[in-house]
Amino acid sequence: MERTLFIVKPDGVQRGLIGECLSRLERRGLRLVGLKFMQITPELAAKHYAVHLGKSFYEKLIGYITSGPVAVMAWEGPNAIALARQTMGATAPGQAAPGSIRADLAVEIGRNLVHGSDSPETAAFEIGLYFPEDELVSWKRETDKWIFE
Ligand code: RTP
Ligand code: MG
Repeated sequence: MERTLFIVKPDGVQRGLIGECLSRLERRGLRLVGLKFMQITPELAAKHYAVHLGKSFYEKLIGYITSGPVAVMAWEGPNAIALARQTMGATAPGQAAPGSIRADLAVEIGRNLVHGSDSPETAAFEIGLYFPEDELVSWKRETDKWIFE
């Protein structure tokens, strides 16, 4: 089992796409283990995107992610990190696979709707940034045996 952090970014919230994005991961079969609605502070954004510090798009990215409320989720499943990234599509919507969130619903790289962790290390780090351990729910679904082998 793997866990991944998933965020519907401010553009997704403003456009009324929280349910659409959540629903795609839910219908795919990943199991929700954490969910909150919040506004990311510049301090939290700096920690989250520290890996991008110094890049040309850094200031723009911090402005974007802190520009309004976001919906933050933790999802669980076998290979959850790669599966969530596939459902999101490539960073640039023009290169995202048809059927992915970014291909179906986004136009610009700086308005690409969603965030997903990109490795086990970043997933553990990012989940820890947004969810204290007692806000994550370990549970079994009645449908697990029909989705997980
Ligand atoms: P994310 O971290 O948000 O899930 O996106 P990602 O892994 O697909 O892409 P990453 O390389 O981590 O970039 C983080 C976010 O920065 C913005 N970005 N803008 N050239 C640009 O203007 C540019 N490059 C990246 C995007 O919002 C991207 O999701
Ligand atoms: Mg990234």
